[in-house]
Amino acid sequence: MVLPLLVTLTLLLSSGTTQNLPTNYEYYTSGGISSGLNADQSYFVLNGKNFSLYSGAMHYFRVPRGYWRDRLQKLRAAGLNTVETYIAWNLHEPENGVFDFGEGGSEMEDFLHLEELLTTAKEEDLFVILRSGPYICAEYNFGGFPSWLLREERMGFRTTEETYMKYVTRYFNTLLPILAKYQFTKGGPIIAFQVENEYGNQEYQTFLPQKEYLEELHQLFVQNSIVELLVTSDSPLSHQDKGTLPGVFLQTANLGASPEKQFEKLLELQPNRPLMVMEFWIGWFDFWGNDHATRDANTMKGIYERILTYPASVNIYMFHGGTNFGFTNGASLGNTLFDNSGFEPITTSYDYDSPLTESGDYTDKYFNIRELLIQHSPVKTYTPDVPNLNPKIAYPVISIEKEILLSNLIQYDAPYVIESENVVAMEKLDINGNSGQSYGYIVYRKENVDLAANTVLKIGGHICDTAVVSVNGVRVSPSLETKNDLDGFGFWRLADSTLVLTTDEKKGATVDILVENWGRINGGKITQYNQTFKGLWQGDVYLNDNRVSGWKIIPLEFKKSWTNNLEAWSSKTSSLGPALYYASLEISDEPSDTYIDMRSWTKGLVVVNGIPLGKYAKIGPQQALYLPAPFLKKGYNSIIVFEHYKSADQLSFTTGQIWKTA
Ligand SMILES: *[C@@H]1O[C@H](CO)[C@@H](O)[C@H](O)[C@H]1NC(C)=O
Ligand SMILES: *[C@@H]1O[C@H](CO)[C@@H](O)[C@H](O)[C@H]1NC(C)=O
Repeated sequence: MVLPLLVTLTLLLSSGTTQNLPTNYEYYTSGGISSGLNADQSYFVLNGKNFSLYSGAMHYFRVPRGYWRDRLQKLRAAGLNTVETYIAWNLHEPENGVFDFGEGGSEMEDFLHLEELLTTAKEEDLFVILRSGPYICAEYNFGGFPSWLLREERMGFRTTEETYMKYVTRYFNTLLPILAKYQFTKGGPIIAFQVENEYGNQEYQTFLPQKEYLEELHQLFVQNSIVELLVTSDSPLSHQDKGTLPGVFLQTANLGASPEKQFEKLLELQPNRPLMVMEFWIGWFDFWGNDHATRDANTMKGIYERILTYPASVNIYMFHGGTNFGFTNGASLGNTLFDNSGFEPITTSYDYDSPLTESGDYTDKYFNIRELLIQHSPVKTYTPDVPNLNPKIAYPVISIEKEILLSNLIQYDAPYVIESENVVAMEKLDINGNSGQSYGYIVYRKENVDLAANTVLKIGGHICDTAVVSVNGVRVSPSLETKNDLDGFGFWRLADSTLVLTTDEKKGATVDILVENWGRINGGKITQYNQTFKGLWQGDVYLNDNRVSGWKIIPLEFKKSWTNNLEAWSSKTSSLGPALYYASLEISDEPSDTYIDMRSWTKGLVVVNGIPLGKYAKIGPQQALYLPAPFLKKGYNSIIVFEHYKSADQLSFTTGQIWKTA
């Protein structure tokens, strides 16, 4: 009789197999549901039973829908009982008053099936925390705000300002009724909602976080029948309780180290309530031009164990970072106010050095977490076996077959040509149902202009964010070879930057200024948000000090229907961008995950089967683009590269991310 017991014990310790234990839902809901997550004492109680909330962050908008279940299974098998995600307003209301929760016809619609995500989480035995903003930060484009909000004069982001609250109210009155059906006490998986995000850090000389704003948000939750626990998150040491409403919201802590100090402060601010870390920064994000950020697995294991044994509840940020697909990355602005000089864009990869890599592979951190949770969870529930990994393939090298030079793209494939006296920001174009242009590129074209020898182009203010200048279809502005080039013409740091356009005289010339939106700031001061326009808008454009007027403006948004139907393709003859380059990847079996190795290219965008995959830049740190199998199909797959500077002749593939030291 001793042997079976030993075998069971060995299994439990070695693989964490806990077959005889109940699932989370069996343990917490088998007798019916009478109450949700309760924080009225120094520990959490869920439906009447003690509960330690062990969560991991994974943002549905950074993971292909086809992999949601895979990633959730891996999260559950790490011993976690909850998944946490932000909700991205900019994706769910891409145009003013037009909503998409899946099947809404927007460019990102496949990522937006929120109800499917919630259903899948429950099927995989997970509870859910939703951080529904409206502001989310998340290193995501504009911190989750739709860019069309910028079209309103004097928009008071993250305040009680009327126009802002009018749009927040309409969004919440659309979003929250959908979520209300999935609350725990209604039989769904959602056990808590976070209101706003790190609002306490909106504190500086001229502004204090507005408690009235938090109260208005609170009322929207109440009016929409949200009954589960409402929380806020901030660093208690840095911002005390400035970002919360004591007694209304449970305050949680965000931290990467020294949990005990934050907990002491939290207990002082909020005695006799449960301790929770909403963001335990187990890794970090990357900026283009910096080195790849990492955090040591053993150090993080030590801090995680200190949190678990304090004891406190904790959400690992990020458990699975994923990818800033397409144009969705955020950026920082440093301390500069409106002028864009301190701009720092975040990379396409949001790997975050997290327990699951960008492509869903396990790292040491994954197994550390699993070991600690099996050891320390006070409530023992069933821990599933660790799922198998998806195979990665380095497909054979493919050649570039065709090209469209920017000048031909404008001439034959321009989606719109807008005549304008002056240069204007992309958000102010009257396209997309008067919501403006959110993403991509904008070309400012001046036709039929006589250029004297050594004509100097001057762009007033700062470029938002990069510019490539061509004369008669030939690029004359410098390439981005090293991060030091960011200090020169063509980038955001210089004010009133100048460029000599031609050494000889050119009559009736065409000047094209291609401007790239490299991501809107995801955070910053209240006064910075309403100035984050993209394109040329800070000043006029001059040729030898003569103000230029009479522009043609061509937005290049890379919408699927446009990219898939381009007509001006011709055989590849040059490697000088800006140009689109086309290659075809033939796959004979079921597709596998792969990475596109962009090391021999310079800077630009990759689009696969019409889906904007992401931006690349050889300055690093990221050198490859994760291409998940759900974006591929059996047969021919179209890969289009929009290269700003100098292209390669081929595309090659690899099985993992390549980080370069900047
Ligand atoms: C719940 O947790 C508290 C605090 O640790 C403890 O005092 C109490 O005995 C626990 N209740 C049950 C039923 O385990
Ligand atoms: C931007 O927002 C700030 C703070 O809400 C406000 O004081 C300022 O007037 C706004 N600026 C513009 C140009 O709307």
